[in-house]
Amino acid sequence: MNFQLTEEQILIQKTSREFADTELAPGVVERDEKKIWPKEGIKKMGELGFMGMMTDPKWNGEGMDTISYTIAMEEISRVEASASVVMSVNNSLVCYLLEKFASDHIKEKYLKSLASGDKLGAFSLSEPQSGSDASNMQTIANKKGDHYLISGIKNWVTNGINSDYVILFAVTEKGVGHKGISCFIVEKGGDGFETGKPENKLGIRASDTCELYFDSVKVPEENLIGNEGEGFKIALTTLDGGRIGIAAQALGIAQASLNASVSYSKERIQFGKPISTFQAIQFKIADMAIEIEAARLLVRQSAWRKDQKQSYSHLASMAKVYASEVAMRASTQCVQIHGGFGYMRESGIERLMRDAKITQIYEGTSEIQRLVIAKSLIK
Ligand code: CAA
Repeated sequence: MNFQLTEEQILIQKTSREFADTELAPGVVERDEKKIWPKEGIKKMGELGFMGMMTDPKWNGEGMDTISYTIAMEEISRVEASASVVMSVNNSLVCYLLEKFASDHIKEKYLKSLASGDKLGAFSLSEPQSGSDASNMQTIANKKGDHYLISGIKNWVTNGINSDYVILFAVTEKGVGHKGISCFIVEKGGDGFETGKPENKLGIRASDTCELYFDSVKVPEENLIGNEGEGFKIALTTLDGGRIGIAAQALGIAQASLNASVSYSKERIQFGKPISTFQAIQFKIADMAIEIEAARLLVRQSAWRKDQKQSYSHLASMAKVYASEVAMRASTQCVQIHGGFGYMRESGIERLMRDAKITQIYEGTSEIQRLVIAKSLIK
């Protein structure tokens, strides 16, 4: 067992840390407040190779391991979770899915530009009536000759507004449950494809989330990913990896909470002393640090197992549940340590708490993760 990062992983950590601190930190509070999408930051993330980190260089990716990806996700999330969710969707839900399941034609046509960061992808699974119960979707894809006509509504689509291509799940055969679901890649902007207005969210406010409307949208048959009926398994396999990315995002938010708590407690003077000298504050900081180290081990272990091609679904769920709950606790304590100042929007501190909350919800709620974990134990 070796807990030491490789030279390449240390370089990724340094590069992503410097990038986040110099390029993303300026203006992060304003972007959150005004819901401004971090366009420049995302463009630079593409230039640095952060948008297709694990994709084979043959398809314009960086060919790195999942551990490197979690390291970059953690560092970027430490500064701007709104930017890291854009990266996470493009990497683990779009590029990964295409590389693993799509035809070479799709890889050539779409994956190359997505992995290089020239184009942006979205993943649209959820619908108004099917969130956790993902297989209960209503969006329908009817085969007509050499194309499909797709109709339905998708919601809570991260990158829905700024993406160029959308991974879309739809029913190709009714009445057979998840076995009737298929997966497609759809270009934005075709006839009958409408993008909803940006949602007004509690956290990750600078990222975009919206509904997508499909009214007999014509999609060529070659845009089917895998075979008809394989869509649900493609979605769940992909989400297993996505959950590692969200766990790393939560870890970054938790680490930011610890860093801010340590530095503020050394500066803030009350009763004639820095508050860091009080045991009540020290215990909060120690508890945060313990939990963050434990969460990091789970994140890296799940990433390692994925890289070793060992089963990792249950560990990805464990990492996501634990890291997201640690992020929620650490960010709440961070606001507490900052007192009234931390409660103010301009402090940038309460943002950590708002951003942490979504990590317990998207890519499968904590309750769904517990079901996945329990199912792996009680077979
Ligand atoms: N990988 C591959 N296949 C899997 C799988 C996995 N991890 N888990 C289950 N399956 C297979 C099963 O083997 C089964 O296949 P068979 O019938 O051939 O045996 C099939 O999938 C159905 O399995 P279940 O009966 O267990 O499925 P279910 O309907 O009970 O649902 C669930 C299982 C775990 C609850 C699943 O629906 C789930 O994960 N729900 C949460 C959905 C989710 O995470 N949504 C996130 C939205 S995307 C998002 O948030 C992105 C964003 O924008 C940030």
